[in-house]
Amino acid sequence: MLPRIVVHNAVSVDGRIDWFTPDVGQFYGLAARWKEDATLAGSDTIYNAEESAAEEEDDIPEPPVVEADDARPLLVVPDSRGGVHNWRQLRESGYWRDMVALCAKKTPQTYRDYLDARYIHCIIAGEERVDLREALEELHARVGVELVRVDSGGTLNGVLFRAGLVDEVSLLIHPSLVGGTSSRSMYRAPDLTTDEGVIDLKLIHCEQLENGVVWVRYEVIKEA
Ligand SMILES: NC(=O)c1ccc[n+]([C@@H]2O[C@H](COP(=O)([O-])OP(=O)(O)OC[C@H]3O[C@@H](n4cnc5c(N)ncnc54)[C@H](OP(=O)(O)O)[C@@H]3O)[C@@H](O)[C@H]2O)c1
Repeated sequence: MLPRIVVHNAVSVDGRIDWFTPDVGQFYGLAARWKEDATLAGSDTIYNAEESAAEEEDDIPEPPVVEADDARPLLVVPDSRGGVHNWRQLRESGYWRDMVALCAKKTPQTYRDYLDARYIHCIIAGEERVDLREALEELHARVGVELVRVDSGGTLNGVLFRAGLVDEVSLLIHPSLVGGTSSRSMYRAPDLTTDEGVIDLKLIHCEQLENGVVWVRYEVIKEA
């Protein structure tokens, strides 16, 4: 079984995620309403986070103490290339109760050893890249994850959308137009060749917030 997957993004009116400045407090204030069991963050989103800084190889932390009644979500990062090296910093941020890296069979063993030494759980799914369906099913089966909020840019969103894994889309539409020819939108994926890949949505919420931001939520219409 799969958990419910919610994509929550701040976008410009033209669906882009770059150049305009979202209100981070508003974004995470609303995100907290889902009380997600796991936050799924793209590895590039983690690299781009302001506070991201690689740790020294010999910077081995103490084993974490994870209380059974800790209600904070898990942080889950697909990282088949073994690029995230600031797990300690992420743990110390205090937002998450524990950390899970999603790796593929091709992920270098040295990186898996690195995770092991830092008490970062690792789920192996897929050959070259992470098989997200398999990994999400395993998170549900092994850790009881029922709801995942995706905190990522268009690339991870795109893989999840195209794999039919997303149940809800929540957008904070900011009163800005960005334009441009690069694909920095909240949904990056190869161009369709027929209309078959269009994802139909059902509007479930629409609200005007401060500063002209409009919050819309849609349920993804899935074929029975
Ligand atoms: N406006 C917003 O609401 C918002 C929210 C979050 C982030 N952002 C911004 O978004 C930007 C980053 O977005 P991005 O689109 O460049 O990257 P991203 O979506 O954060 O990261 C790419 C992720 O997708 C995974 N991936 C890519 N192809 C895959 C495949 N075929 N199968 C499985 N997994 C795959 C990668 O895994 P591997 O590492 O294994 O390749 C990686 O974890 C940052 O600038 C960030 O600040 C904006």
